[in-house]
Amino acid sequence: MSKPSEGLYERVQEAARAIQDRVGERRPTTALILGSGLGGYADQLQDAVAIPYEEIPHMPVSTVTGHAGRLVVGWRGNLCCAAMQGRVHYYEGHPAREVAFPARVLAMLGAETFIITNAAGGIDPGLEPGTLMLIRDHLNLIPDNPLRGENDERFGPRFPDMTRAYAPRLRALGRDAAHRLGLDVAEGVYAGLPGPSYETPAEVAMLEALGADAAGMSTVPETIVANHMGAEVLGISCITNKAAGITGEALSHDEVTETAARVRETFETLLGTVLTSLERGDRKG
Ligand code: HPA
Repeated sequence: MSKPSEGLYERVQEAARAIQDRVGERRPTTALILGSGLGGYADQLQDAVAIPYEEIPHMPVSTVTGHAGRLVVGWRGNLCCAAMQGRVHYYEGHPAREVAFPARVLAMLGAETFIITNAAGGIDPGLEPGTLMLIRDHLNLIPDNPLRGENDERFGPRFPDMTRAYAPRLRALGRDAAHRLGLDVAEGVYAGLPGPSYETPAEVAMLEALGADAAGMSTVPETIVANHMGAEVLGISCITNKAAGITGEALSHDEVTETAARVRETFETLLGTVLTSLERGDRKG
């Protein structure tokens, strides 16, 4: 039997070294994985170096978007951040292990805090398009787990705890930032689905019964890997549409991108404020 993780550690090391060679003194402690339409924040990082994914060994490259995306390493004040503009998804055909490969690389580079964002459909009827939702927990409904296969203890334990997969103290920090900005943010459970078709209304009813507040097609693999490697995660969903069957209207990718574009400025302000709090170390437990 082939060992799925054979050489994974070495591949992650190679990718991390290649990045380190390019970014010099910059040692990112915060990783930003930016979802559909939310990648613009990376352009605000100062004294930044941008590396196209194609130039990083072993990075999975998107089969969908035409351009693969890039990693931007730079500063927000005194906080060194590594921001992924673009990511690959399970629905593109990559196993969860590959989807989460970049998260492993960022953790190996020294990222201890991950801010992972996505576009999601609102299942809770109170979630209007344009709402930002801090993720409290997730349901992994992707039929895969990035840790499947042989475990390499250098990354983390065989059976990592997921009780606080989304660190309560980072969520508190997100809540405080929103409060200071006078922003209403929601909090809820994110269901990670395989996609790429959107859910049926019956599936949305099922997800609601399971306790999900929002549905999307990303975030879960990266969150599992970040936890495996001992990093903390703040998850933020941009509710871009009401989930299927709630309004009776058909869902469209255009609606998703339009809402993400509309929320972009608010989202970036919230993200910037959270990063300022992280920089100051005014963390809440
Ligand atoms: N379902 C799943 N993924 C999504 C949705 C949705 O309604 N909206 C944006 N991403």
